[in-house]
Amino acid sequence: MTMYELIMKKKKGEELSKEEIYYMVEGYTKGLIPDYQMSAMMMAICFRGMTPTETKNLTISMAQSGDVLDLSDIQGIKVDKHSTGGVGDKTSLVLAPMVAALGVSVAKMSGRGLGHTGGTIDKLESFTGFTTEISKETFVKNVNEIHIAIAGQTADLAPADKKLYALRDVTGTVDQMSLIASSIMSKKIASGADAIVLDVKTGDGAFMKTLEDAKELAQEMVSIGKLAGRKTAAIISDMDQPLGNAVGNILEVKEAIDTLQGKGPKDLEELVLTLGAHMVVFAERAGTLDEAREKLEQTLKDGSALETFKKFVVAQGGNEAEVLHPELLPKAAYIEEVHCEQAGYVSNIQTEEIGRISLLLGGGRETKESEIDLTVGLILNKKHGDAVSRGDILATIHANDKTKLLEAKKRVQAAYLITDKKVEKRDLIKAVLK
Ligand code: URA
Repeated sequence: MTMYELIMKKKKGEELSKEEIYYMVEGYTKGLIPDYQMSAMMMAICFRGMTPTETKNLTISMAQSGDVLDLSDIQGIKVDKHSTGGVGDKTSLVLAPMVAALGVSVAKMSGRGLGHTGGTIDKLESFTGFTTEISKETFVKNVNEIHIAIAGQTADLAPADKKLYALRDVTGTVDQMSLIASSIMSKKIASGADAIVLDVKTGDGAFMKTLEDAKELAQEMVSIGKLAGRKTAAIISDMDQPLGNAVGNILEVKEAIDTLQGKGPKDLEELVLTLGAHMVVFAERAGTLDEAREKLEQTLKDGSALETFKKFVVAQGGNEAEVLHPELLPKAAYIEEVHCEQAGYVSNIQTEEIGRISLLLGGGRETKESEIDLTVGLILNKKHGDAVSRGDILATIHANDKTKLLEAKKRVQAAYLITDKKVEKRDLIKAVLK
């Protein structure tokens, strides 16, 4: 078998066998197959596509190209959640303690990543002393006792995907659904979960701009998960406006704590209940989605979700007082409002632009080396469909730099579109695929 033969085969639209895909992935990871041949293969896949079996084989071979986490010391069914990313997405901070409060084990490996705000780990590091550098023993012990632990990505997870993603990025071959789906799922499968719930976002602030694309990606990922023997479901959710009201690390942590107390924004609570219900059913802690939802609502009412969050933060070195009194967390130097200049209804919030404004303020990373400012960001006081009067507060900006603050104010003003006509509110949950 040669790589040349495999490229010719795919160019003609034929199906690659399992052996051929493993040969290609192993050879590329070890440096035996050069970038130019792999680029040709990726482009051939862009034009010819892959069958579900090919996609599954690509995913598993990438998952097995490095460490595959062995979570067998953790009792029960391990359920993981993955979001394709969006603006103001603090879902994991609320969801993980809620399901953990019901005994669902969440053993998470998280990266920091690039983006308009930090990732889950950066947000959790808002708490003084919190660390994800915990030993395997502590990780397992915490999951068995509290049902939740988050470790930094120390293991060499799916190195084939890392190398291939970097190649796709510079050869115009990122936007092929089977390649995206196998890339995401290879990392999830290597992380050792028995069941996976996917939050696929769609809209201006998401990777998938159209509902059609989001459905196609979700369908591919669900099909890979099932073929790989994992219970998998995908929820498609709206990202045509930020999730909740807060964008920015500490601001999002505070909103997550409010939500754990049942006082959070309704869209965030609704998304968490929908994703959580699937996780609870997968973990066999409830028989139906309705029953799971009721149990999850109860964790907000009886304080058990917040209690679990507190235990989890403290078990990883964080300061308990800051969880119970989030007003103790540091604040930005300048907190200023953006006012509405005309009466009407909010018909659009340019979501990607809101993400870029958070990045401008210093809330995210442009390169892997960038330092994040945890205190900066925005609170959106008005959301899509809201009625507004002249002078109302549209948003509040938290900044540490006067020049950036002024630029952010102008850009937030421009990111809000106000119309005279009443605007119908959009559905948050667009579809569920199982
Ligand atoms: N995110 C990934 O992890 N992989 C892709 O291919 C695209 C987005």
